[in-house]
Amino acid sequence: MRKVFITGTDTGVGKTLISSLLVKKFNAYYFKPIQTGSKEERDVNIVKNLTGLNGEYFLPEVYLLKEPLSPHLAAKRENKKIELKKIFCPQKEPLVVEGAGGVFVPLNENSFMLDLMQKFSLPVLVVARSTLGTINHTLLTLEALRQKKIDILGVILNGPLNLENKNAIEYYGKVKVLAEIPKLKTINSMGIEELLTNFNI
Ligand SMILES: Nc1ncnc2c1ncn2[C@@H]1O[C@H](COP(=O)(O)OP(=O)(O)OP(=O)(O)O)[C@@H](O)[C@H]1O
Ligand SMILES: [Mg+2]
Repeated sequence: MRKVFITGTDTGVGKTLISSLLVKKFNAYYFKPIQTGSKEERDVNIVKNLTGLNGEYFLPEVYLLKEPLSPHLAAKRENKKIELKKIFCPQKEPLVVEGAGGVFVPLNENSFMLDLMQKFSLPVLVVARSTLGTINHTLLTLEALRQKKIDILGVILNGPLNLENKNAIEYYGKVKVLAEIPKLKTINSMGIEELLTNFNI
């Protein structure tokens, strides 16, 4: 893996946790171009804390928006407009790019997170919940990516192991589930190390 775009089937699905695992494993740069809810927490700081990597690995956001809302709304609240032409894929390797929410999150009146993925032209990793509802959400996400001819690396399932859901996603989605991340009691840098040692990520 040299560069990857992490998307998810939803917000809060585990993109930042999976990004941290990849950043740690590959000593990768991390870039979250659009961050909403920054008055509460910035994903870049979470990844920095969880990986313990040097500050230079963490690239600054292009849009840092205060409200925990969809990017198009969070920007509007600050009288800003997200413009795709102002967001570039960093010339750094290895690189983990984290999207905001999922593929159909609007960025402005006429573009979605999908359009940013298309612009960056990176292979995409889909993070999905392991639990009920995930088959539908994951298949919809894969369908949207394929419609835009975006290269799909695979799916990572996050949460309690669920073999039936894994099998259904692989069969109906014609995709590989690359890893299954169990539910952790606490998320800290030791947990990240442990996951990397005990699971084939
Ligand atoms: N496997 C897990 N075990 C326990 N807690 C988890 C696990 N995965 C994620 N979490 C917790 O769930 C919350 C959401 O996860 P995370 O921030 O990685 O989601 P996200 O998809 O990056 O969200 P956003 O759309 O806001 O960027 C966090 O508090 C995180 O610590
Ligand atoms: Mg996140």
